Amino acid sequence: MIGIFDSGFGGLTVMKEYLKKYPDFDYVYLGDQANMPYGSRSTELVNKLVVQNVDFLTKQGCKLIIVACNTASADALRHVQSIYKGKLVILGVLIPAAEEALRSTRLGQIGVIGTRGTIQSGAYERELKKYESDLYKPKDKRALNKVKIIEKACPLLVPLVEEGMIKTTVTRMMLKTYLRPLKHAHVDTLILGCTHYPLLQKEIERMMGRQVVVISSAKAAADAIEDYFKRHPDLEKSLSKKGKRIYYTTDCPERFGDLGSRFLGERIKGEKVEI
Ligand code: DGL
Repeated sequence: MIGIFDSGFGGLTVMKEYLKKYPDFDYVYLGDQANMPYGSRSTELVNKLVVQNVDFLTKQGCKLIIVACNTASADALRHVQSIYKGKLVILGVLIPAAEEALRSTRLGQIGVIGTRGTIQSGAYERELKKYESDLYKPKDKRALNKVKIIEKACPLLVPLVEEGMIKTTVTRMMLKTYLRPLKHAHVDTLILGCTHYPLLQKEIERMMGRQVVVISSAKAAADAIEDYFKRHPDLEKSLSKKGKRIYYTTDCPERFGDLGSRFLGERIKGEKVEI
């Protein structure tokens, strides 16, 4: 069983990508709706919540756990990985997105957007710098020697997406404001460092222009698992494959069902659990 969790519904964009690539595996999804949003919480609290979520999913029999939330992947992932070291595989969404950005950038100018928590943690910058020397191969004579990272916190995008305000004037205005510094900095690659942003991907691509490669951390995470399974075939073999899907939420199953269906692109029902 693969466990995927997030602060609420957003992680279903990650689950969607996994289901596209690996529809046969059994999945259990946990949305910690009672404690959302993680994006504006302290590191200490996110660490605590992430450990709780992982504990719950291990009790459901998960052998592989995906931290779908970018905010939780930013700092808490390392914390929980150290607790479960050697006992459980826990992966996040941030490293795959950073790696893909380094492979794709032509000029070495990478933009990152995310929640306040993700951007303030500096985690994307840390991972981009860590893998820079291995993965960044300048593809243009105007390219920088070292990558330059321009980050922007976009705290209002999560509530706008949750309100279903995708193609509205107010969302376009906010996107224009948030994306302006990235456009001015001439980023050629932009990481969508939040579970909710894939729902805005078309709008963001249109605003950034065709020359900018937009990378969804949800898709990058699902794509990266293929390589992980190649390196760890025993893990892949140990995962059950009956196409089972279970959805749990820590609050209000009706809202989880309504919003979750929109994020996943198919009708789902969540069961409320105490964790
Ligand atoms: N899931 C969060 C993320 O990807 C966004 C929602 C929240 O702040 O809880 O950062």
